[in-house]
Amino acid sequence: MTTDTTTKDTAPATAPGDVVLDARGVTMRFGGLTAVRSVDLTVNKGEIVGLIGPNGAGKTTFFNCLTGLYIPTEGEVRYKGTVLPSKSFKVTAAGIARTFQNIRLFGNMTVLENVLVGRHTRTKEGLWSALLRGPGFHRAEAASKARAMELLEFIGLEAKAEHLARNLPYGEQRKLEIARALASEPGLLLLDEPTAGMNPQETRTTEELVFAIRDMGIAVLVIEHDMRFIFNLCDRVAVLVQGEKLVEGDSETVQGDERVVAAYLGEPFEGAPGDEEAAEVAAAEAGAARSGAAGSGAAAGSAGTGSAENAGTTGDASKEND
Ligand SMILES: Nc1ncnc2c1ncn2[C@@H]1O[C@H](COP(=O)(O)OP(=O)(O)OP(=O)(O)O)[C@@H](O)[C@H]1O
Ligand SMILES: [Mg+2]
Repeated sequence: MTTDTTTKDTAPATAPGDVVLDARGVTMRFGGLTAVRSVDLTVNKGEIVGLIGPNGAGKTTFFNCLTGLYIPTEGEVRYKGTVLPSKSFKVTAAGIARTFQNIRLFGNMTVLENVLVGRHTRTKEGLWSALLRGPGFHRAEAASKARAMELLEFIGLEAKAEHLARNLPYGEQRKLEIARALASEPGLLLLDEPTAGMNPQETRTTEELVFAIRDMGIAVLVIEHDMRFIFNLCDRVAVLVQGEKLVEGDSETVQGDERVVAAYLGEPFEGAPGDEEAAEVAAAEAGAARSGAAGSGAAAGSAGTGSAENAGTTGDASKEND
């Protein structure tokens, strides 16, 4: 079902060492609902990859599968060649950091403290060192603080280091989340709607910020509904529709694909995810209507049984795709 319309057919194959993220056949089911269905996605060194799709397409769920928040029902995720551990703090330690669609900062902590929290996977000082507060601990603390301040400068929030996070305007809270994610020194950064709620000026600055992050050697996978942002920024864009990857390619390819436009507008199109199930439902309903019209006894009963079975199966399938 997945259609790869990448135009760079002639581009040299990526060397194995250049693949930062390799997700294969990732499926995530919640009871009867398949939120992500057999999705393959790679992110290579130096790339900014976009993940777009209508509301409820499964984008955040896919991110959760990449970061150990969810264990995929099927499939495998590798980071730099190694299968991901199943706990999110271990995933962060391995090198994948993220921001959240719904901002998750410690509101009553300062801006600086929030960034320091992000550094904990990188500090080697253990419990005893922290409790005894020996010279090793103080050195490590000073180094962490210096790095956190550097990151605040990088995102333009150094002047607000001592402000409480909850007092920052919304756009700055989103940037602070990025700084906190960067504090874990990741090799891959996942951004879930980084410009949601931002004004055009803030969005523009965030765009520059993401380019700068890429230039620091960090690969980026970004979910966003702002298409201008996505198409300006990304080397490659994958489109999720009803949990399935519909198209993947460069900005031009994706923008020019009629199925992407149709999926966003909610128009039916040939080969759409869930299309076969929808056709089966329609056929079953038509069958049921016909047998209802025939109206009588045993014959209608047996026809009715057949279509009821159909309707039963397809009914579940269509629920999956809601
Ligand atoms: N923990 C969960 N339990 C049950 N269903 C879930 C869970 N998380 C997500 N879903 C469902 O999975 C589907 C995909 O949701 P998801 O949040 O991944 O979409 P999305 O593409 O991120 O949408 P949006 O653009 O609105 O953020 C939705 O139908 C959602 O209701
Ligand atoms: Mg989402």
